[in-house]
Amino acid sequence: MRLRGKRGAKELLAEQTDLVVLEPEQLKGKWSEAFGNDRPIYVELGMGKGQFISKMSLKYPDINFIGVDMYDELIARGCEKARLFREEAGMQEASNLRLVRANVEFLEQIFAEGELERVYLNFSDPWPKKKHARRRLTHSRLVEKYRYALSNTGEIHFKTDSETLFEFSLNSFAEMGLQMRNISLNLHRDGINEEHVMTEYEEKFMGKGMNIHRVEVLVGDQAYKQYRSSLPHNEPYASR
Ligand SMILES: C[S@@+](CC[C@H](N)C(=O)[O-])C[C@H]1O[C@@H](n2cnc3c(N)ncnc32)[C@H](O)[C@@H]1O
Repeated sequence: MRLRGKRGAKELLAEQTDLVVLEPEQLKGKWSEAFGNDRPIYVELGMGKGQFISKMSLKYPDINFIGVDMYDELIARGCEKARLFREEAGMQEASNLRLVRANVEFLEQIFAEGELERVYLNFSDPWPKKKHARRRLTHSRLVEKYRYALSNTGEIHFKTDSETLFEFSLNSFAEMGLQMRNISLNLHRDGINEEHVMTEYEEKFMGKGMNIHRVEVLVGDQAYKQYRSSLPHNEPYASR
């Protein structure tokens, strides 16, 4: 993502303690306490300018949302967006939203085992060169970290324009023995339903007429069992 430098982003973040968590390691295992309730926690890793996570937090007030990105400037943009959207909706507080500047590589320092209910990966950097494959956010090395942080009903929802990243990711999930559902190679073919919240990159790629690929990955054992028993002719659970 290209960044237009923004002077004083760090200072700006330090002033927004209602929205920004500057030392997320201190909340490891205590995120529910920080939100002041036991509602499920959904995280977007690589949130960019934060349109998706902000809109989701407005749309689903009974869920707690955390947006993570590794650049101060993007977290600062995320704050601006969150406040603007809330103002437009006639709301003041963003009590179910927090923004965190962190590298996904260090996720286990921020979230305790089973603390999350859902991980969103939206238009993650494709890292097309083979020698950079380990940096892809759907590499098994990183998915293991998400698996640790997700609860036993936890899921990963992944969207991308990149066919090669999508192919790589499906293989990565399959090799880890993870059940996938609702795989789509062209999410917008039949028009988007009103539940769907678009990201900045999604709008950009849609505008260029590109296909969006999407998959839901059932990470927790309970999520897998619930899915199996919802199938019309379900068979006894295959052990994983
Ligand atoms: C292509 S942008 C997508 C932004 C947004 N999700 C969207 O769909 O509009 C990818 C984002 O992931 C962030 N990112 C990439 N690797 C990351 C990492 N290891 N940790 C945290 N953020 C990361 C980048 O800074 C960038 O903002």
